[in-house]
Parts: sequence; structure tokens; C-alpha cells
Amino acid sequence: MSRPEPTRIVSKLPDAIPFVAPEAYEREMGTKFLARLGANESVFGPSPNAIQAMTEAVRNPQWYGDPLSFELKSALVTKHNLTNDHFVVGPGIDGLFTHIASAYFAPGDRVVTTLGSYPTFNYFVDAVGAELVQVPYRNLKVDLESLAKEAKQCQAKAVYLANPDNPSGTFHDGNAIQHFIDQVPDETLIILDEAYLDFLEDYEVADLRLIRLRTFSKLYGMAGARVAYAFGEPETLQPLNRIRPHFEVNSIAQAGALASLQDHDFKTKIQEKNRLAKYDLAILLEKYGLYPLASSTNFVLGDAGSKARAEAIVTNLRQERVFIRKPGLAPLDQYIRVSVGTEEDYAVLAKALKQVNL
Ligand SMILES: Cc1ncc(COP(=O)(O)O)c(C=O)c1O
Repeated sequence: MSRPEPTRIVSKLPDAIPFVAPEAYEREMGTKFLARLGANESVFGPSPNAIQAMTEAVRNPQWYGDPLSFELKSALVTKHNLTNDHFVVGPGIDGLFTHIASAYFAPGDRVVTTLGSYPTFNYFVDAVGAELVQVPYRNLKVDLESLAKEAKQCQAKAVYLANPDNPSGTFHDGNAIQHFIDQVPDETLIILDEAYLDFLEDYEVADLRLIRLRTFSKLYGMAGARVAYAFGEPETLQPLNRIRPHFEVNSIAQAGALASLQDHDFKTKIQEKNRLAKYDLAILLEKYGLYPLASSTNFVLGDAGSKARAEAIVTNLRQERVFIRKPGLAPLDQYIRVSVGTEEDYAVLAKALKQVNL
């Protein structure tokens, strides 16, 4: 029987999504995880105001959400001191990646990233048939100088970096980022993924010659609601509006995101909780010979000393019903990655690490 064929680009792609969800492991195990510390979600949950706003919004799902996300964007205008046209709201940063890739990348284009950094971005570059050019980490940090140099050398269409970075957890300050922007050729689009920047003090980037990405999935505790935004020069962002599905950010997520921004104490409260819980996590990891790397995010890398030990710990913890993950590629592949958790999570983790005894 003949069937319709997907495009030539899609036919060549592997049948896989890059992230095996904890739910998939739970189905396989036939039981739930006792501690879910593998996806850098927020154990602190959303703002109570966001919960209230979403609870009200959920009573009226018969109406389409505002395709322009006008109210949410108005709050963003105030927050960033820009205009409405500087923003595009989307279903998570991952959702915005698909629009950036569709709007800007085509077969033959080269896109520069860091080898081993957030893999989901690469997935969308592959999906449109553009070519990835990957630069290694330097001293476990994104190598800004080499990224800019490579962008120039290969006449890249775009260069991507996450700051703070996942999975390393390392960070470059605003001066370093501005210097990096100055080194990248004007023709290259800079995609600056700031999913974890809310955990730190915001830095100023005078230059808007880039797309910056922020999410409500991390500090704001709304990963399941799927809402994020891109900001930058209107001319750079408007192409995303030409191709995005109009109603892709649902009314409930929009209401929750808006209420999160309006809860002015929430961010500092969670920053503090995260700082304390991250400290406890680092101490716990160190106790089990998993030497923690300083992190600017809501997760900590623990050095297991070898890739084999790190892999064994991840697998064995899963058998103890603890979900963590690890980076796949050198130089980070000898680390395990554990998201910040609650005291109860840490008690479960400590007991499991003792049991696993690796
Ligand atoms: C660097 C980075 N960017 C983006 C995302 C995804 O964000 P969102 O939930 O907004 O799609 C993640 C999630 O882990 C991340 O680590």
C-alpha cells in the first residue's frame, strides 16, 4: 500500500524526541517516582495569585484566548520598558524555537551552538534541514569567544546560547554577553535563551540585535501550562507572528503568566528559596562523593568522577524511584544533574543514594 511521504528532511530524521519524560519511566516501572528531580521544574509551584487567576480562567474555556496576548504583553512592556511590538508570546521557549527555526532557517544555513548544551534547540534546527555547527565548552562554560569566531568563520545564519546554561548551570555576566554580541557579525541572528535568568539579577543588554527568550516554566513554576516570550527588535520578531498558530497560548496560561508578573514579591521569594535549597542540595551531593559545580540555576551538577559511575547512579536511582538526569556529552558526561527539591525530596534522595552505594 502506498502512503503519503513526509518531506525529504523529515524522512531523514530519527524517530525520537530528545527527552524521555518521567511519565514514560513511570509507565514502564508501573509505579510513580518518589522524587522528581530530573527536569528542572519548580518544586515551589506557581504564585498563589497565578493559581487563582488560572482557576478563574479555567471556568471559561469556551472562549479562545487572546491571540495577541495583549494584557500579558502590556505587563511585559512595563517590566522591560519596551513596546508591545518588541514581544512575541509563545507556548514555551521550545515552542518559540519552532517559529524561529521556521522563520529563519533553511537547508544550507549554518547555526552555531555549544556541543552538549540544551539539546532541544538542535532538534528544531534539524527539523528544518539547517546545519548545526557545534563548539565545545571551555572550562565547563559556554565559550563565547569561540562561538563568535565560529559564527564569523562559517557565515552563520544564527548563533544560539543559553545563559545561564543548561546542563552546565554556568553563567556569563552582562558585560561578557554585550562583548560577545559586539563580536558576532551583523548578519548573524543571536538567540539568547534566558530560561534560568529569573534566578539571578537581570542584566542590561543595550543591544537589541538579538532574540532573547524568557519562560514561565522555571522560576514561575508553570512548566505544564506552556507559556514563554521572545523579545527583541520588532523587525526581527514580527516574522514569527506571520507563521505562528494564533491560539497556541491558551487563555489559562495567559492568565497565570499575567498574575505571576503582577505578584511583585514572588520572584525574590522564590530566588531566596531556590538559593537555600540549592545550597542544601550541594551539601547532600558532596556527602555522597558527587562534587557539586557552582550553579546559577535551579539545578546542580554533581561530579561522579567518571561517565560510567554517573550513568550507573542515574539508572540505579531510577530503580529507587528517584528521577534525575545527566548530560550526555563530554566534558559534562561524568556529572549527574539534580534539580532543586523540597526537604522531603532530599530525604528520599539521600536514602536512595545510600542504598545505591556507588
Ligand atoms: C535552556 C533551556 N531553554 C528552554 C527550556 C524550555 O523552556 P520552556 O518550558 O519554556 O519550553 C529549558 C527547559 O529545561 C531549558 O533548560
